[in-house]
Amino acid sequence: MAIRLGDVAPDFTQESTSGPICFHDWIGDSWAVLFSHPKAFTPVCTTEIGTVARLKDEFDQRNVRVIGLSVDSVDDNHAWARDIEETQHVRMNFPIIADADRKVAILYGMIHPDADDTLTVRSVFVIGPDKRVKLILTYPADAGRDFDELLRVIDSLQLTARHQLATPANWRPGDDCLIRTAVSNSEAETLFPNGYEQIKPYLRTTPQPVG
Ligand code: BEZ
Repeated sequence: MAIRLGDVAPDFTQESTSGPICFHDWIGDSWAVLFSHPKAFTPVCTTEIGTVARLKDEFDQRNVRVIGLSVDSVDDNHAWARDIEETQHVRMNFPIIADADRKVAILYGMIHPDADDTLTVRSVFVIGPDKRVKLILTYPADAGRDFDELLRVIDSLQLTARHQLATPANWRPGDDCLIRTAVSNSEAETLFPNGYEQIKPYLRTTPQPVG
């Protein structure tokens, strides 16, 4: 059965470039990003891993632990990491699950047989500290992902987990937010002391709260 938003992220133990990973223990009280890439020693994947390594501080600031996955061996992933460091000019600073037996890829539905029955697609799962799945993205092999967008949506997920808010199209941190329709106007006055604007009864904006 496919994993859906709100499900508990399946737990697993698997080898990685940082040794065996027990996934839920590894997440601990953090948020997590689990992302698959089709294959070691391939061009798009090489640029993606380098990009994520360069963004490590951004994920750390958001209390997000990042882990990659490919259906390759630990040795292949270590050898590929050396290529990534050479070509992308960044040190590898997060683990890659070596899912050579495809245990995790199958558990998470990362192999789409009509796309390719041997490789994983570009899946992204954002998982909260409660171990529940907050976001799922799927890209095909030939389209590299936008990891700035991943950070942006993590900001939205974390903000809307703390406040009775939603974020509008193309929202960026610092932009006005939308008050959830379940919040009454009198509740909104208490919850959002900086005030709000009612454009329609269902369309109310408020400045992004601090914290
Ligand atoms: C790539 O990362 O460039 C790639 C990997 C597998 C299939 C196609 C492209």
